[in-house]
Amino acid sequence: MSHFNTTNATRARQLIALYPEPRSALLPLCHLAQEQDGWLRPEAMAEIAELVGVTAAEVRGTATFYDMLHTEPIGRYLVSVCTNIACILDGATELLSHAEARLGVRVGATTADGLFTLEEAECLADCDHPPCVQVNHRFVRTTTTEKFDELIDELKGGGRAEEIPPHGTLVRIRRNGGLRVEPQRIERERARAASSAERAG
Ligand code: FES
Repeated sequence: MSHFNTTNATRARQLIALYPEPRSALLPLCHLAQEQDGWLRPEAMAEIAELVGVTAAEVRGTATFYDMLHTEPIGRYLVSVCTNIACILDGATELLSHAEARLGVRVGATTADGLFTLEEAECLADCDHPPCVQVNHRFVRTTTTEKFDELIDELKGGGRAEEIPPHGTLVRIRRNGGLRVEPQRIERERARAASSAERAG
């Protein structure tokens, strides 16, 4: 039985069909699993491995390379505070200390209610609004300790749902256009790639 729910199992098949090599769908499938569960569960990684023809260790090895993929449970909201140069010059250290005190956890930890995980981030490309804070990879422009507290209160009360989806959601709008390839063409490409690999080997 699939770890993916019915909708996501269909999406997984569609994602794999986009690539001549099934393993090219590894990262999109990791994001799909993370969207479903909030993090990459071992059973999801095992299924992804089976779907794309690699080992579960390869899936884990790939996932642990990327900051946006999490192989351990994290909170519903991932709060990222940038401590790179522009932000550190404008109060990032103080804001991060305040965040630790406000949430009652150290950097890297998750609050007991499972709502918030706090992380320190490298430059988030919003250097003109320092110190930069993201929640679930959305810019929140929370540059003072007061605004940070307001944000946390709002999130605890279920606010900002339009702006900030649960962790793992990259986009909420499904693509209807864009890349579409006929399955027969994918099969031809796969056969060609396999025979080139065979000749090379
Ligand atoms: S240095 Fe913080 S967003 Fe660039």
